[in-house]
Amino acid sequence: MSTTQALRVAAADGLELDVARLRADFPILSREVNGKPLVYLDNAASSHMPRPVIETWEQYYTTIHSNVHRGVHTLSQLATDAFENAREKMRGFLNAREAREIIFVRGATEAINLVMHGYGRAFIGAGDEIILSAMEHHANIVPWQMLCKEKGAKLRIIPMNDAGDLLQDEYHSLFNERTKFVAITQVSNALGTINPVKEMIAYAHARGVPVLVDGAQAAPHAAVDVQDLDCDFYALSGHKMCGPTGAGVLYGKADLLNRMQPFQGGGDMILHVTFEETIYNEIPYKFEAGTPAIASVIGLGAAVDYLNGIGMNRIAAYEQRLLTYATDRISAMPGVRIIGTALHKAAVVSFAIDGVHPHDIGTVLDQEGIAIRAGHHCAQPVMQRYCVAATARASFAFYNTLDEVDALVDGIRTVQEMFS
Ligand SMILES: Cc1ncc(COP(=O)(O)O)c(C=O)c1O
Repeated sequence: MSTTQALRVAAADGLELDVARLRADFPILSREVNGKPLVYLDNAASSHMPRPVIETWEQYYTTIHSNVHRGVHTLSQLATDAFENAREKMRGFLNAREAREIIFVRGATEAINLVMHGYGRAFIGAGDEIILSAMEHHANIVPWQMLCKEKGAKLRIIPMNDAGDLLQDEYHSLFNERTKFVAITQVSNALGTINPVKEMIAYAHARGVPVLVDGAQAAPHAAVDVQDLDCDFYALSGHKMCGPTGAGVLYGKADLLNRMQPFQGGGDMILHVTFEETIYNEIPYKFEAGTPAIASVIGLGAAVDYLNGIGMNRIAAYEQRLLTYATDRISAMPGVRIIGTALHKAAVVSFAIDGVHPHDIGTVLDQEGIAIRAGHHCAQPVMQRYCVAATARASFAFYNTLDEVDALVDGIRTVQEMFS
C-alpha cells in the first residue's frame, strides 16, 4: 500500500493515534538529557522498545532461557516454540508465503551480506553487472563491491535528481544482457525518499533479473507485503522497529533460498556431518548457523505484535503528518536548507544550516535534550552527490509529537543564534 493509500485508510477508519498513551509504553521517553526532557529524533539509527517488548525479553530470561532446536528438555522446547512463533509473526508482518522464507540474522547488514555470499558468489561472475541506486546505505554497497572485486563483476548506479528521486529512465537504460542483480533501498535513510520499488522490481523481473530490497527504513514505518512487491529478497533490522538489537530478518523466496549456498557453517545448519562431507539442513536453518540471538528474536516477535496492535497504516499516516509539519516549519526558516525533497518521503528530514557544521548542530541540540544524527549517515555517496561532508538528520517515529517538532525548530534557532 502506498503512503497516500495508507493516509486514506487511516482517515477513513476515523481512528487517530493516541500518542500520549503510546508514549507511556516507552520508559526511556520520560527521561531527561542534559536537564531537558528527551526529544528523541534519531529513530532511523535505532528506535526504542515499548514495555511489552522489554517484558518479553525479561520473561524469556527469567522463565524459559535455553538453547533452541537442540534439547529434549522442557526449557529448550519452550524456547524453540517461542523462537519459531516469532518466525511466524514475522511471516505475517511481511506477508511472506511461508515461515521458512524468514531467516533470522543480526540485522539488515547481515541479511545483505548473506545474499551476497549465498546468491552472489554462486550466480554472479566475471563481466556481470549489479545495479544499485545512488542513495544506498553502505550496507547495500560494500558487500556488492567486495563481490565485484572477487569476481570481476561491475556495479552500475541509478542516478538521482536534486530532489532525491531516482531517475527511472536511467534505471531502465542500465539493463543489458550482463545485468544479473538489482539491490535497492525502499526508503533512503539519508534523504527519506520512498522509491517505487514495486515498479522497479517488475521492470527487472521482465528481464529475468532478481531484486533485493533493503527495507531497513521502510518496514518500521508502513505495511510491507513481500508477495505484492514480488521482491526476491527483503532485508530489515529489528532494532529500527521497536525490537531489541541483534535480531533482523532476511526474507527470501523459497526457491531461491534452496538454490543458494550457506553463508556460515556450523551447528544447526546441518543434517549430517562427516569429515568427508556435510549435508546441509533445510531452509531456513541452512542459513542460521550457530546459536541465534534467541531473546532478541523473541523480542522482535513482541515488537511485531505491538506494531500490529497500533496498525501499520495508522503509523504511516501519523508519521506523514509529522513529516509535513516538520518540513513546513523547517523549510520556512531562513538559513536552513532541507536536503532531500522528493515527493514521496518517509519521516526523515536531513538539513543544513548556513555556516554551521552538522556536528555543531548535533552538539548544541543535544544540550537542549534533542537527539538527532549528524554525519554522513553511512551513505557517503549521497553526501558526495549533494557536495556536503555531512548533514543533520531528524528522523521520526510514531511516538514523536508535533510539540517535539516545535522543540527541534526552537533548537535550530538556538544553534543559529550561537553561531551568528
Ligand atoms: C537503509 C539502511 N540499510 C541498512 C542499514 C543497516 O542496518 P543495521 O546496521 O541494523 O544492519 C541501515 C542502518 O541505518 C539503513 O538505514
